[in-house]
Amino acid sequence: MHVTIVTLFPEYFDSVMSTALMAKALERGVVRVDFVDPRDFAEDRHRTVDDKPYGGGPGMVMRPDVVGRALESVESPGLMVQLTPRGRPLDQSLARDLAAAGRLTLVCGRYEGIDARVEAAWDLLNVSVGDFVLSGGEAAALCLLEATARLTPGFMGHEDSGEEESFSAGLLEYPQYTRPEEWNGRRVPRVLTSGDHGRIQAWRREESLRQTLARRPDLLQGAGLDRGDVEALRRIARHRLGRGLWLCLVHWPVLLKDGRPGAVSLTNLDIHDMSRVSRSYGLAGVVVVQPLADQRELLDSLLAHWREGAGARANPDRAEALSLVRGASTLEEAVAYVTEQTGVRPGIAATTARGAGDTAWVEVRQWLERGPVLLLAGTGHGLAPEVLDAADGVLRPLRYMDGYNHMPVRSAVAIALDRILGDAY
Ligand SMILES: C[S@@+](CC[C@H](N)C(=O)[O-])C[C@H]1O[C@@H](n2cnc3c(N)ncnc32)[C@H](O)[C@@H]1O
Repeated sequence: MHVTIVTLFPEYFDSVMSTALMAKALERGVVRVDFVDPRDFAEDRHRTVDDKPYGGGPGMVMRPDVVGRALESVESPGLMVQLTPRGRPLDQSLARDLAAAGRLTLVCGRYEGIDARVEAAWDLLNVSVGDFVLSGGEAAALCLLEATARLTPGFMGHEDSGEEESFSAGLLEYPQYTRPEEWNGRRVPRVLTSGDHGRIQAWRREESLRQTLARRPDLLQGAGLDRGDVEALRRIARHRLGRGLWLCLVHWPVLLKDGRPGAVSLTNLDIHDMSRVSRSYGLAGVVVVQPLADQRELLDSLLAHWREGAGARANPDRAEALSLVRGASTLEEAVAYVTEQTGVRPGIAATTARGAGDTAWVEVRQWLERGPVLLLAGTGHGLAPEVLDAADGVLRPLRYMDGYNHMPVRSAVAIALDRILGDAY
């Protein structure tokens, strides 16, 4: 692997080049690293590499002519990468691709970064090492260099050690232990000293899944999971945020066709579908706000049929889902009910297809970490303005970047619950 690092501070890399595995790999020629300093390509006597940003603002920007000459000087540069917080996040899969390229040129910015025309002219691949800002690209280039070099054949002592690590299979690694077998009253898990290789492998896989579910559930989406993994994930106790979430289907006050607030009648399908989705996502309950007496009677007889009557005998799954549902005459009654159940007034998150709610879906998940939440969904033409005004947050419409947002309320609720809870909670 051959890497050229374009940097104003080549000395930054000195200790890394002479330490541990990297030093050995350089010595053995497994990895070659050289440096190009853009300052050597400045043309004035002060060796200036930067200038003020057009349009004003703080800081300085690295000049395209100087950086351009530095890049031109690199012979067969291979894949050219600019380290920048605006780049694609560096992960193990990208590290593998970059290592496979074999020849890399890493461009490190300083100050406010490099003039944007350089990136366009050289078609640089932008890579970030995380959502934070470093003072320069050097620390980021080091991360990239280490992550790729250690995947180069011959870099590590034994070739398979890269295969078992975190992210190699899209999961975090299982916990590692060494001697002493007991330390400060803490014993190494017995399975690891059993000598039973099969059990050890199974334990490690399950621990990988456990760690990933607890710390980085987002990784599970892209991980290669087999049936055994899925079974194991089902067995692992997990943080069920849905237990603090109540869905509230509001029939009054909502907007009617003519734009005025009023009450609308029940829709049988809404009650069925929303309770099934709520049961699937592990919600605490569903409250149907309906002030009209005949409609409340309809709700009661519908629930009785499916929960205790012939419907329950024919379809116990449906009975289980509908057991989550209860009626309330007003929104205040719904809030009082959840408060009574939990001992805390719930945070109220309202949904709307119109207007621009400013609460992000992920915020509702954060609220749930702190306490119960009542998620309001409006029937008719949506929740009345007075309900939106009184809520603790109004969520952005599901497709807020597009004009058409008229989804059936039960579809919207299904998408909303998935946005808030996803698979992991
Ligand atoms: C102070 S930063 C410039 C930040 C830039 N003004 C911005 O807000 O995106 C200087 C240089 O550090 C490097 N850098 C900073 N944070 C980084 C990150 N998270 N990943 C990769 N490179 C980074 C880049 O090379 C960048 O040009």
